[in-house]
Amino acid sequence: MEYRKLGRTDLDVSALCLGTMTWGEQNSEAEGHAQIERAKAGGINFIDTAEMYPVPPRAETYSKTEQIIGSYFQQRGDRADWILASKIAGPGNGISHIRDGQLKFDRQHIVAALDASLKRLRTDWIDLYQLHWPERPTNFFGQLGYRHQDSDFTPLEETLAVLDEQVKAGKIRHIGLSNETPWGTMKFLQLAESRGWPRAVSIQNPYNLLNRSFEVGLAEVAIREQCGLLAYSPLAFGMLSGKYEGGARPEGARISLFSRFARYTNPQSEAACSRYVALAREHGLDPAQMALAFVTAQPFVTSNIIGATSLEQLESNLASAELSLSAEVLAGIEAIHKAQPNPAP
Ligand SMILES: NC(=O)c1ccc[n+]([C@@H]2O[C@H](COP(=O)([O-])OP(=O)(O)OC[C@H]3O[C@@H](n4cnc5c(N)ncnc54)[C@H](OP(=O)(O)O)[C@@H]3O)[C@@H](O)[C@H]2O)c1
Repeated sequence: MEYRKLGRTDLDVSALCLGTMTWGEQNSEAEGHAQIERAKAGGINFIDTAEMYPVPPRAETYSKTEQIIGSYFQQRGDRADWILASKIAGPGNGISHIRDGQLKFDRQHIVAALDASLKRLRTDWIDLYQLHWPERPTNFFGQLGYRHQDSDFTPLEETLAVLDEQVKAGKIRHIGLSNETPWGTMKFLQLAESRGWPRAVSIQNPYNLLNRSFEVGLAEVAIREQCGLLAYSPLAFGMLSGKYEGGARPEGARISLFSRFARYTNPQSEAACSRYVALAREHGLDPAQMALAFVTAQPFVTSNIIGATSLEQLESNLASAELSLSAEVLAGIEAIHKAQPNPAP
């Protein structure tokens, strides 16, 4: 396993990060714990969660994922071996069960969310505390282009000042952004630098063969500002494994279970996906491993957040860290991307 610096910190995170958002819904506590152990044995030292998880968010399961991680730390006592990332939820539909439902990145919400996460995670500190998505209306979660909407939102200055207090109190070590745009990222970085507030060390956005929109405006920011990408959904919800080929809906798999997860199943995505899967097979590669290796190898990626619902998947995904794609395969990927760029933004 390769390790990479997290932003300008002194932390070295594994090039693969363990995603957790199925634990408490598709996966039990015991399965979550087994995944953590297997990931650790494979060299992973970086784990990503969120107050909102598991997905899809429901009042009945709210915050179970953090509880599962917390019970692991309590039982194994190895908290200090991990670089732990969590997130505070912003405003959105279908999450009225989180705090008072009127979510904001202001003092009241940040302090309440962070204290509750620390308690569930059974730890005194979170290494990377991320804003899950912008509070302001902008283009994320499947919206490619920006359409302006006037609306009030918590000034970024207030958000950063409160986060600064949490860092000084020792509750968080670093802050990160997620589902951010180039404007938001640069604004947070500039404010932090000019006011001495914590500087975001990473940006967690979607990045996979069906959605490379990060390359357009953010890859340059990530490299020049040393605010690297933590790539999420590297398999486009499992699509890039090839198991949904020809409209198949395997039992128990995410897209079969939850019809609202339609981000990667539009006709253009399915067509592009088939081409990537065929390319992998032509070269004797496992399609999921090819898709993961492509993400991990990008120079603007700090860590690739893998997700799994079984130890077999986790095993195979871990092995992708050792796979380096040939020039021929990379040329094949570029040809498909050129013909069908970003079918699932
Ligand atoms: N910041 C954000 O807004 C955000 C959003 C999404 C995710 N995330 C983070 O990123 C992590 C990963 O995201 P993701 O789960 O969407 O990643 P993903 O890699 O796109 O999808 C993972 C899912 O694909 C299936 N899968 C995984 N490996 C497979 C394999 N080898 N063969 C066949 N199927 C396989 C599994 O689902 P099934 O078994 O159900 O098919 C697994 O849960 C999350 O856990 C979370 O920590 C963050």
